[in-house]
Amino acid sequence: MAKKILLSASNIHKSYSQGIGELQILKGINLQLYEGEALGIVGTSGSGKSTLLQILGTLDRPQAGELIYEDKNLLAMPEEDLASFRNETMGFVFQFHHLMSELTALENVMLPCRIGGVPKDEAEAQAHDLLNLLGLNERLSHYPSQMSGGELQRVAIARALVRKPKILFADEPTGNLDSTNSGKIQEIFFLLKEKFNLSLIVVTHDVSFAQRFPRLLRMKDGQWFS
Ligand SMILES: Nc1ncnc2c1ncn2[C@@H]1O[C@H](COP(=O)(O)OP(=O)(O)OP(=O)(O)O)[C@@H](O)[C@H]1O
Ligand SMILES: [Mg+2]
Repeated sequence: MAKKILLSASNIHKSYSQGIGELQILKGINLQLYEGEALGIVGTSGSGKSTLLQILGTLDRPQAGELIYEDKNLLAMPEEDLASFRNETMGFVFQFHHLMSELTALENVMLPCRIGGVPKDEAEAQAHDLLNLLGLNERLSHYPSQMSGGELQRVAIARALVRKPKILFADEPTGNLDSTNSGKIQEIFFLLKEKFNLSLIVVTHDVSFAQRFPRLLRMKDGQWFS
């Protein structure tokens, strides 16, 4: 079966104004992401990996370029439509968990559903199932301050997946973990990818993680290099 392109980015340019000049960060990036594929991105610090991830995930806008999801021209969508599209289609995991300290694990995972208008019972059932799957069934009512680093990251992963996104973006998701926990989180990413037919885009400095990706792209100075 032919592979289906899910997300296609063309000629993405991003710069920041710096004094009187412009600082070019992304210099015409092209990328095609296939359905169900696991893509890793590596590159030196400051090369533009996080900037690109934010743009692909529609959290930031480029100055030039095109971003197409299936037949949707994302950069032409009104912000409100884009926000609900993002909530339903894309999940995000970062180096720091960004969980809400005043909510329990279960409530944190339910939050994207509640924002998206999913009824409470349904949201709770979905959050519960995912936390179970990630081995956190005994941590449902724990607050972030009552969990370990590895557990917090698993809750963050559950939160990213609770809307059943098509693409999971992760920016150094193991950056804060020891090698044992990093290994566990790596396993979880690939397990979830298979289970939900997710497309993964993972930026990582972790060599053990990077080498597990069937496709690994290297970024240098705002461009791909081989
Ligand atoms: N808001 C901003 N204003 C100006 N420059 C910025 C801004 N955000 C990022 N940059 C610059 O863009 C460049 C790329 O940053 P980015 O965070 O994408 O790098 P990275 O590849 O993710 O690095 P790391 O591996 O350290 O996370 C850096 O030189 C950074 O200083
Ligand atoms: Mg970064």
